[in-house]
Amino acid sequence: MHQLKIVPPTEKNLPPLVRPPSLAHRHLISLHDLTPEEIDFLLKLAQEVKAKPAHYKSALEGTTLAMILEKPSLHTRATFELAIRQLGGQVLTLGWEEVGLGKREAVKDVARTLSQWVDAILARVQSHQTVLELAEHATVPVINGLTDFEHPCQALSDYLTLLESKGNLANVTLAWVGDGNNVAHSLIYAAARLGAHMRIATPPGYEPDRSVMADAKREGGDVTLMHDPAEAVAGADVVYTDVWTSMGMEHEAEARQEVFRPYQVNCPMMRLAGPQALFMHCQPARRGEEVTDEVMDSPRSLVYQQAANRLHMQKAIFLALLS
Ligand code: NVA
Repeated sequence: MHQLKIVPPTEKNLPPLVRPPSLAHRHLISLHDLTPEEIDFLLKLAQEVKAKPAHYKSALEGTTLAMILEKPSLHTRATFELAIRQLGGQVLTLGWEEVGLGKREAVKDVARTLSQWVDAILARVQSHQTVLELAEHATVPVINGLTDFEHPCQALSDYLTLLESKGNLANVTLAWVGDGNNVAHSLIYAAARLGAHMRIATPPGYEPDRSVMADAKREGGDVTLMHDPAEAVAGADVVYTDVWTSMGMEHEAEARQEVFRPYQVNCPMMRLAGPQALFMHCQPARRGEEVTDEVMDSPRSLVYQQAANRLHMQKAIFLALLS
């Protein structure tokens, strides 16, 4: 396998980027597992790869990724597949019916068997427990491509987008409006690591998991929970929302429509936030539900820059874990 010893800096006079040894050949399951230095390295490496894609075009020649998808995917699937190919590697995509994780074949057998053939496993699975079990038994890195509890690769690329827009993450205030779900959890963990501030407004009963809030606060994170979206967005640098009904929660969709209606990100809410506020969404977006067309399509919307950056961050993740 190609060895990435030193990553040249994007700008002259910057010290070379050196991978923290702790990132080599490890799993990426939760942002709670990464140190500030490791996250910082991934952000810098993604910027470097974005600036000089040709430099890395054969960096992972001969590497194969297996992708297990138990849920639909556009952004994650497309960007991981393109990323490994653009680094010189190849991909094997496996749907949930053919794999039958934990049903047709035990999760540990899938993990051990795939480890014989491939260099990394990307898993988008229903239950976080499944990705933990895959990681426990795989002998190659397992990457979490979304579970019901976290979406770490999304959050990493979102902080890259914020870094590009704001120049610095240490004093950025991110207002989360909506469901305290998987994406929120990963953003909260990373905020605590990066010194970003987070105000989280959810309907009562839809708060982020208590353990996530407690971990973030214990680590000195400035994360505040509230129920009033107006309070959360006032003066924020960015307003972030996600679907009201995540994949796997479809049986609750009708009830959620009512509960989440006051949390729609629309022009009046962006006015409450202030003229400086940008808009983010991990997508797919349900236009007309959690966000209006006007906000999605406005010049303050970062959604397509977020989508673009998924590709660069996935490359950084592969290079950091596999090279
Ligand atoms: N919270 C959403 C994120 C999709 C990328 C879901 O889990 O469906």
